[in-house]
Amino acid sequence: MAPVADTDKYDASQFQKSHVGRTKSGSYTVSKHNRELALYPEYLPTWNPHQKFPAYTFAEYHDKGLLADPELKNLFPGGLGTHDDYSVKRITPRLGSEVHGIQLSQLSDAAKNDLARFVAERGVVVFKNQDFNDGGPQSAVDFARYFGSLYKHATSGSPEGYPELHVCFRGASEEEIAGVFANRTNSISWHSDCSYALNALQLTLFSCLQIPEAGGDTLFASTVEAYNRLSPAMKERLEGLHVLHSSIEQARNNRDAGGITRREPEANIHPLVRVNPVTKQKHLYLNKEFGRRIVELKEDELDYLLSFLYDHVEKAQDLQLRIRWEENTVVLWNNSTTIHSPCVDFDEPVIRHAYRISVMGERPVGDLQYLNDPDYLKEKYEQLGI
Ligand SMILES: [Fe+2]
Repeated sequence: MAPVADTDKYDASQFQKSHVGRTKSGSYTVSKHNRELALYPEYLPTWNPHQKFPAYTFAEYHDKGLLADPELKNLFPGGLGTHDDYSVKRITPRLGSEVHGIQLSQLSDAAKNDLARFVAERGVVVFKNQDFNDGGPQSAVDFARYFGSLYKHATSGSPEGYPELHVCFRGASEEEIAGVFANRTNSISWHSDCSYALNALQLTLFSCLQIPEAGGDTLFASTVEAYNRLSPAMKERLEGLHVLHSSIEQARNNRDAGGITRREPEANIHPLVRVNPVTKQKHLYLNKEFGRRIVELKEDELDYLLSFLYDHVEKAQDLQLRIRWEENTVVLWNNSTTIHSPCVDFDEPVIRHAYRISVMGERPVGDLQYLNDPDYLKEKYEQLGI
């Protein structure tokens, strides 16, 4: 059977047994010790045991990147490269760019459209020296909302009143460090955030609030380049295949750890090869964390194929990059054309505090003629009884 999420995996966004504190309103939060050490207490994670969200249903999505200037002149008036007031440089030829001298908080709507297109084109865009965190959770929500509806996670921690913020908080405790490698030899866990959602999480913003001197890098891999590297025969083999993605194991692990469930877990079927509506590029859409099976194949067949595809994306360092976080770095990524992994390599009990906001994009399609078609894959859902 295809690999499933590791039940012993450490996930800093989920409830930990060391999160023993309570807010004034009765929600769970991090321990008093960690609250006192936190530099941004307004962003600390909370879990309200009485909070419930309805199930997501299909929603049309029109990517802001489709409104962009093809030359991105609203975002980069002088073009790419180095200029007096800003610079834009590629991190690797096919994945990632780094921007200096532009404040996300000051962008016009037209510049945000260009930003959506640029992130779709480059997969990962790193903005240095941002003033983003100073405005508090509301300013982050206001910024991201321009691009579409913001995803509310079923089980992760969020600041009270801001369920759109998915907080990653690793506490300063020996217990949390000890737990990471208790049953694992590494912390690498490649995934696309919440790929089990019907409308896929698309444009994603991640900002670090409090970081250690070293440790906690994030790894990214391009699923566009991973697809392009395949032979024509393998590309042909993958066409028309679909993957079942599920959050059932994530919900169970969280419940076992004492966490809350705001929305019932879900499972959805998505094409193995997706097309990005902005760039029109094909890319693989699968990840070990939430992918469960290829619905058209028998178990032995899908084990063989998934094993190759996971290895292909996860081990090819020549289609990957690694972000080293700094104070006031904000990263935007396309959660469909890339996968990513945390790197939990800390050697001492220090806080790492960050948050993520994700815009809900289109329902994934293998052919753009089905974009925003609510009946897409209806027969497959009926076949599987979901
Ligand atoms: Fe993630």
